[in-house]
Amino acid sequence: MKPILKWAGGKARLAPAISEAFQTKCEGTYYEPFIGSCAVYLHRKAAGEVTTAVLADINPKLVHTHCAIRDCLDDVLAELSKLPREGFEAHYYGVREAFNVGPYEGPLHAARFIWLNRSCFNGLYRENKKGFFNVPVGRYTKVSLPPVAAFRAVSAALQDAEIRVADFREIVALAGPKDQVYCDPPYVPLTATANFTGYAKGAFADAEQRALAYLARKAALSGALVVLSNHDTPYVVDDLYTKKAGFKHVARPRVARAISRAATGRVKVGEVIASIGPRSVRSAG
Ligand SMILES: C[S@@+](CC[C@H](N)C(=O)[O-])C[C@H]1O[C@@H](n2cnc3c(N)ncnc32)[C@H](O)[C@@H]1O
Repeated sequence: MKPILKWAGGKARLAPAISEAFQTKCEGTYYEPFIGSCAVYLHRKAAGEVTTAVLADINPKLVHTHCAIRDCLDDVLAELSKLPREGFEAHYYGVREAFNVGPYEGPLHAARFIWLNRSCFNGLYRENKKGFFNVPVGRYTKVSLPPVAAFRAVSAALQDAEIRVADFREIVALAGPKDQVYCDPPYVPLTATANFTGYAKGAFADAEQRALAYLARKAALSGALVVLSNHDTPYVVDDLYTKKAGFKHVARPRVARAISRAATGRVKVGEVIASIGPRSVRSAG
């Protein structure tokens, strides 16, 4: 099942490999603390691998969009149908302004979020220091939206899920025996200058990457199985998710991706899918 939203670092293509890294269906609660477009949850839910789920992200405007798709899809679709598909460029900055004024939840908010996501530059989500969405208009002939049936399928898949605005620390700490956790944090930079971690206010720096690796080990000690993905760099495989600490490097796929705002084409980037647990932690500290 495909997500409704485009999302930087979205895992629609990698979802089967990430599912495989879990090896078994989730018998407890499935936690996903960095949902973005929800690609992995939607894939695993459609495959019958997940029943009880807690999905979260730090971005409230994103989370409230998923909640509206779950709770009031017909109203979201009605609002969306009022926004132009052809000649959208003339309306783009007006809709962006209205989105930034609010409301930040409910069907009107969700419709604007989806429309902007499908009409802005590269489907990016970026905010300025004041917390206002500031991505410029994209170059498309018209706004293309998924078919209504795709919206309905995603809404149905989200019905039983708890969806929360939260920092990852709060969510990973909840995992215990039989639970599974998929962590897809903002990527560590590939180079010292390529430092896109700005999905919303606040950064995801070394301290956050280390806190996540530490919490993944703690969750594994509590009996959960944790799968994580990130760029395949020496820092990630030899320093963050180390074999010495009990992490397995389950797969190292290469993925075609536009990696910078200026990129016109796509390049292949190495990713690593790592797993830890249950209780496979070595030298926990
Ligand atoms: C790589 S994206 C996740 C993509 C997602 N797996 C998908 O397939 O669309 C990383 C996500 O982490 C979220 N994020 C950034 N900092 C966070 C934090 N401290 N706690 C929770 N989520 C955070 C961002 O808002 C973004 O949606």
